[in-house]
This record gives sequence, structure tokens and C-alpha cells, in this order.
Amino acid sequence: MLETIKKPFNYEGGAIRYAHEYPRRLRVCAVGAGRHPYFNTLPVLRFAPVDLVGISDLNEERAEAAARAFGATKAYTDHREMFAAERPEAVFIVTSYDKDGRSPGTQIALDAIAAGANVWMEKPTGVSVHEIEEIKAAADAAGKTVMTGLKKMFTPGVERVKEIISNGEFGTPASITVRYPQIIPPMEERGDLHAVYGLLDHIWHPMATILHLMGTVDKFTYEWEPKSQSSILLLRFASGAIGTLHFAAGISGSSPLERVEVVGQNANVVLENGVDLTYYRPSPGPDYGGASYLVPTESAALTWSPEFSHGALFNNGNFLLGYFNEINQFCHSVLAEEPVTKGTLDQCLEIIRIFEAIRTHPSGVFIDLKGDSVK
Ligand SMILES: NC(=O)c1ccc[n+]([C@@H]2O[C@H](COP(=O)([O-])OP(=O)(O)OC[C@H]3O[C@@H](n4cnc5c(N)ncnc54)[C@H](O)[C@@H]3O)[C@@H](O)[C@H]2O)c1
Repeated sequence: MLETIKKPFNYEGGAIRYAHEYPRRLRVCAVGAGRHPYFNTLPVLRFAPVDLVGISDLNEERAEAAARAFGATKAYTDHREMFAAERPEAVFIVTSYDKDGRSPGTQIALDAIAAGANVWMEKPTGVSVHEIEEIKAAADAAGKTVMTGLKKMFTPGVERVKEIISNGEFGTPASITVRYPQIIPPMEERGDLHAVYGLLDHIWHPMATILHLMGTVDKFTYEWEPKSQSSILLLRFASGAIGTLHFAAGISGSSPLERVEVVGQNANVVLENGVDLTYYRPSPGPDYGGASYLVPTESAALTWSPEFSHGALFNNGNFLLGYFNEINQFCHSVLAEEPVTKGTLDQCLEIIRIFEAIRTHPSGVFIDLKGDSVK
């Protein structure tokens, strides 16, 4: 019931508001009306403090259909015309790749900043350190927020892992392993953006998890297997912790994509498939000389799994996968005139540095990421 909603921007553990219930809403436009916005990002706007006034897509039919479906007042085929006509406070950009393998979203973000808007955009923010630095310089000069939808930082599963590994009893997070299926093509092909399309499109997901949980990667090396084009990256974090990112190309289509495990001191936490969470709390092990495998109840593992009986928001993919949280954080940060803390341009720079390093360094060498560029 509306009367029970006390705090205007509080949704954690409480009711989620409909867009129209917010007393102050951002005037927003969306650029791109392809699959991802239709499935995920535009539906989420129903729960964010926004008033969607325009949608543009190069494909007029898509723009008009999305405008009708998601309640935008007007459809456009030219985003610059839309920005000039609608004067949005924020823009949501989801536009895929051009014929050169680059993201049109990079230039659209610059156009949005020039038009006076804050920006939420899908990855890839840019295809190089240079491109992302260009957006950062423009955003800083204009005093605008630019956030990339690094959804893995926002999933309830990863968020709970973060809470657990920060809770003191877990000890200092010492190591992490992340599994994500992804090919890296042979070295001689990596200069071509089309050849590294998959890596460019996906590296954001496992790296967002890793950065959020463990912080900055200082250096890394990797080994590469030519048949499957799978690889294993060995990471050293600024904190002193270590980790692996297993780009597990070759897993079965019937397999969930992801597995995350963080180990602390006499404690570890495992997130399977992004949703099934097990926290192995600090505990004595079973007695080797004893007859029972059962550890004490008070230190036994805790497990969580989503509930799929209710038609509730929390078991909806847009909530389980982080789309709601990322867009909601962006809107509330812009309204509060506060910087975003997740999906920042600095985090995007950390990720694109690793992408550039893999494109330019063969397997087997150690790559130092400290400083402004790959060394
Ligand atoms: N985070 C995630 O989980 C996730 C999932 C899927 C896709 N994505 C990202 O979303 C993006 C789009 O994916 P998609 O599946 O929607 O692609 P898509 O090919 O279905 O749609 C892309 C749309 O962008 C439009 N477009 C291109 N340039 C434009 C411009 N200058 N102005 C207006 N519209 C323009 C195209 O006409 C097309 O309709 C990609 O960058 C992809 O990486 C993210």
C-alpha cells in the first residue's frame, strides 16, 4: 500500500514504486530499440523515477513500436534531433555494433553529454582506453554522470557475496575463481575488432564481478588453448589477493555459464549460475576419527536459492540479473546529484585495459596494468 512507503528512495527490503508514484522524475530519452532494451532495460523503467519522453532507433518501425509499448511520447530516427527537441535530463543508450565492430553508443554518449544530459549506457562503453577516456573527459568537463550497466555488480547474488566477504567473520578475501565461457581468438586475429567481438561484448560481465568483489587488478598473465580457444587468466590484485578467470570456451550448451567462489580464512562462498548461493561459514570440519560428516548446526553452511512460485518482482529476471538495480541506482544518483559508485567510467577503464592487453600481448607473459596504459 502506498501509505506504507515511508522513504522516497528506499526499495531495499520494501515495496518498489511505480515510475508515476515518484514526486520528482527525470525527463529521459532512450536510444536504441533492439532486443536488449525491449527485453530488459525499457521494461525496468516502469519502476524507476523517470518520465520517458522519446525513443530513437535508426529503424523507424522499431522506434515507433517501442514508443507505443513503453509509453514514450514520441519516436525518432535521429538521436540528435530527439535530444534537441526533448531536452532530456538523462539518456539510456543501447545500440550494439557498427560495421567496423565499434559501438555507436560511444559517440551517442558524447552527443548526449553535449546536449546537457546524463548518460546510462550499455557496454561496450568504448572499444579502447582512448574512447572511454574521451567520454570521461567530456563528462567531467560538463559535470555529467555517465554510467555503464555493469549488471553483475548489481545482481542480488553478487551483492550478497560482497556483503558476506566484507562481514569480518569471513576474514580477508584471499582468492577468487570465476568461470565464464568465452573464446579468445588466435593472437594474429586479435587486431580485427570483428574477431574479438565476443570478448569485447562479454568481458564486462566476469570482470564486473571480479572488480566489485576483489578490487583493482594490478597485473595478470594467461594461458591459451588453441583447440577450444579457452583460456585461464591468473590475476594479482592491488589488495595482494589472487584470482583466476577461466574463460571456459567449450562448455556444454546445457550448462549454466557462471560459477564464482571467493575464499577467505576458514570461510568460502560459492555463487552458482548467478543465483544459487552457498556460504560455508567459519566452522570446524567433521572429526576425521568420528562417525558423522555433520558439522555443528550453528556453523553449518547457509544456502539461498530463488523462489519461483510467486509472481513476485524478486524472481523476475530483470531483478535477478541486476537490470533494475543498475538503472535505479543511476536515476537516484542523478536526482541526488551524487556520483555513481558502480558501473563508473573508472571501472570501465580497468576492464578495457585488460581487453586491450589481451589483444596486444601473447599468452605466457606477465602484463602490468598499473599506470595509465598497458605496459
Ligand atoms: N548487459 C546485458 O545483459 C546485455 C544483454 C544483451 C545485449 N547487451 C548490449 O546491448 C547492446 C544492444 O544489443 P541488442 O541485442 O539490443 O542489439 P540489436 O542488434 O537487437 O539492436 C541494436 C539496435 O540499435 C539500433 N541503433 C544502432 N545505431 C543507432 C543509432 N545511432 N541511433 C539509434 N539506434 C541505433 C539499431 O537500429 C538496432 O535496432 C549491445 O551493446 C550489447 O552488448 C547487453
